[in-house]
Amino acid sequence: MTSSIAENELHSHFEETISADLRVEPRDWMPEGYRKTLIRQIAQHAHSEIIGMQPEGAWLTRAPSLRRKAILTAKVQDEAGHGLYLYSAAETLGADRGDLTDKLLDGRQKYSSIFNYPTLTFADVGVIGWLVDGAAICNQVPLCRSSFGPYARAMIRVCKEESFHQRQGYELLMTMMGGTDAQREMVQESVNRWWWPALMMFGPPDDRSPNSAQSMKWRIKRHTNDELRQRFVDMSVPQADALGVTFPDPDLRWNAERGSYDFGEPDWTEFMQVIAGNGASSVERIANRRAAHENGAWVREAATAFARRASTKENAR
Ligand code: 3HC
Repeated sequence: MTSSIAENELHSHFEETISADLRVEPRDWMPEGYRKTLIRQIAQHAHSEIIGMQPEGAWLTRAPSLRRKAILTAKVQDEAGHGLYLYSAAETLGADRGDLTDKLLDGRQKYSSIFNYPTLTFADVGVIGWLVDGAAICNQVPLCRSSFGPYARAMIRVCKEESFHQRQGYELLMTMMGGTDAQREMVQESVNRWWWPALMMFGPPDDRSPNSAQSMKWRIKRHTNDELRQRFVDMSVPQADALGVTFPDPDLRWNAERGSYDFGEPDWTEFMQVIAGNGASSVERIANRRAAHENGAWVREAATAFARRASTKENAR
């Protein structure tokens, strides 16, 4: 009897914390469903950051100048750091990083759909910075107000770095658009390939999003998938105009009544195929991640052995 009364009191305290827009911290009591949803979303987010290093990383050795190589190196390194913050946030919920990696490698956990598309030209590096990191900013800024403390705090640091990512991409494209016709065509061709996958990053439509309603109630998510997708479209169209490119959507037009852009429907069949592991680069991405994990096993073993010996020495004192 006592435990159920205590549990009820703990639950009401949790609900009061959420409705007062305060933060839930790792040591606080939380419903098991809240913990599970957070581990699911934060792990997917972390996996996305690490896998997301591959598409642009493929251009590190082929960057057209030392300056571009230095900028791209800094960006790709940032993504690794974002993954680190997020795996650490997941560990505060009792998740084990090795277990999360196993779940990624055997397909029991996802990473963002966007990283299953190939980077075919250097313009893709600019378009990923502009549109993919731009979409990430739209999605991640509200997460700075997520109800779970470590996640929200990780996002504050991530968002500062994402704005550098987006600006460097846009500046790269501005430079290309000021170049030759061939460079301008390369940019437009890249935009045509990345626009719809960038819209899919925000997740399925709200009426097909099984997790959104509960995540909004728990204030893990602060906006729905469709709200953020609309915000991204409204932000991107003026930027495309300034750049001198168009988006491959015949239904894209300003709706004065709504004060927003109307736009076409992404191909949700393609989206479901991609997140099921059948994207153009899905097999390559996981194979690369698996190889990196296996090649890095000796580092983890050495670090664990060192830590064990240090703690044995400490205890022997
Ligand atoms: N890619 C892969 N899977 C996706 C997805 C996407 N773009 N959108 C949705 N899904 C999956 C969900 O994970 C869920 O599957 P699951 O239950 O097996 O996990 C299913 O599709 C249904 O989607 P829901 O809308 O119900 O799921 P969520 O409520 O979790 O919303 C989300 C999906 C909006 C992606 C949310 O999880 C989220 O905001 N995640 C954190 C942000 C994030 O992951 N950002 C993108 C990658 S990071 C990045 O872009 C790096 C940058 O530096 C470039």
